[in-house]
Amino acid sequence: MSSFAPRVFSGIKPSGDLHLGNYLGAIKRFVPLQETHACIYCVVDLHAITVWQDPQDLEKATHEVAAAYLAAGVDPEKHIIFNQSQVHQHAELAWIFNCVARMGWMQRMTQFKDKAGKNSQNVSLGLFAYPSLMAADILLYKATHVPVGEDQKQHLELTRDIAQKFNNDFAASISRNHLDGDFFPLSEPVITGPATRVLSLRDGTRKMSKSEASDMATIYMLDDADSIARKIRKAKSDPEPLPSEVAGLKGRLEAANLVGIYAALADISQQEVLDQFGGKGFGTFKPALAELAVDRLAPIAMEMRRYLAEPDMIEKILKEGADRARVMAEDTMKQVRKIVGFIS
Ligand code: TRP
Repeated sequence: MSSFAPRVFSGIKPSGDLHLGNYLGAIKRFVPLQETHACIYCVVDLHAITVWQDPQDLEKATHEVAAAYLAAGVDPEKHIIFNQSQVHQHAELAWIFNCVARMGWMQRMTQFKDKAGKNSQNVSLGLFAYPSLMAADILLYKATHVPVGEDQKQHLELTRDIAQKFNNDFAASISRNHLDGDFFPLSEPVITGPATRVLSLRDGTRKMSKSEASDMATIYMLDDADSIARKIRKAKSDPEPLPSEVAGLKGRLEAANLVGIYAALADISQQEVLDQFGGKGFGTFKPALAELAVDRLAPIAMEMRRYLAEPDMIEKILKEGADRARVMAEDTMKQVRKIVGFIS
């Protein structure tokens, strides 16, 4: 058994309008991992174009994700921030993985089924191959830990299946080339914290997203203090007071969502939120949550705007990050090309 250095990789699609789900489910959790791991945080623009993106909007959205990483506290000097398309090795390894992954595995992906819906004959081939590119992102850097939201768990399982099949299929070649028996690691998702799945503020059966019908359903990372507070005060809840135990949130989707958001923003557990607010109604809880959210989110929005006002600086950071990522990626690809039998 080989051992792999602890390394974190994660990515966010630049498809416009980052929201609280992106922040609590991903970006906020990227920050503390920097203390213990070498981290690579990617703006996955190749993934974004699996559905149509207006080119000018894509540029803007790429800046926005990079600005969010920076504003939240990712350190681009100690760690790496870059956009995926600047490191061609992602696309190259994804192609090889397209030849490792099986149709049946891909057809089981629930995110694809949800996104394609009844339209499955008319979505891009890229959307179908999406998880294979994601596996390439992670395995190019032999990342051991991948902080993601709950919804990405199945893609991580597929990533491990691809790694394992590659290690097996090419076992003889791997050893002929004097490389480790386990060439690729079996990367683990890191799905922790009270808000790995943030729900719509208007409908507790749906994920928070930028495509909600009502603008009041989604808190955007660039929202100003007034909008944040208004959306929370108007959020759907129920007439019951909050329970004093987490178990009491069962079946109360909207209440559980708001408690989860509070816990994640305050860096405490849901139980600690209920220790404080159990027995109190939403008339008390919502204003407290609104105040907390404004307190935690408004400064980040301000910092994001400061970065967004300097796109040249953002692009310089992305380019420097890409230069460093490329060295690591090429190191892996040199070996992969040999293992597969490509002459170079
Ligand atoms: N699929 C992820 C999402 O939609 C984004 C992503 C692409 C990603 N590549 C990744 C996440 C690699 C973690 C690691 O949220």
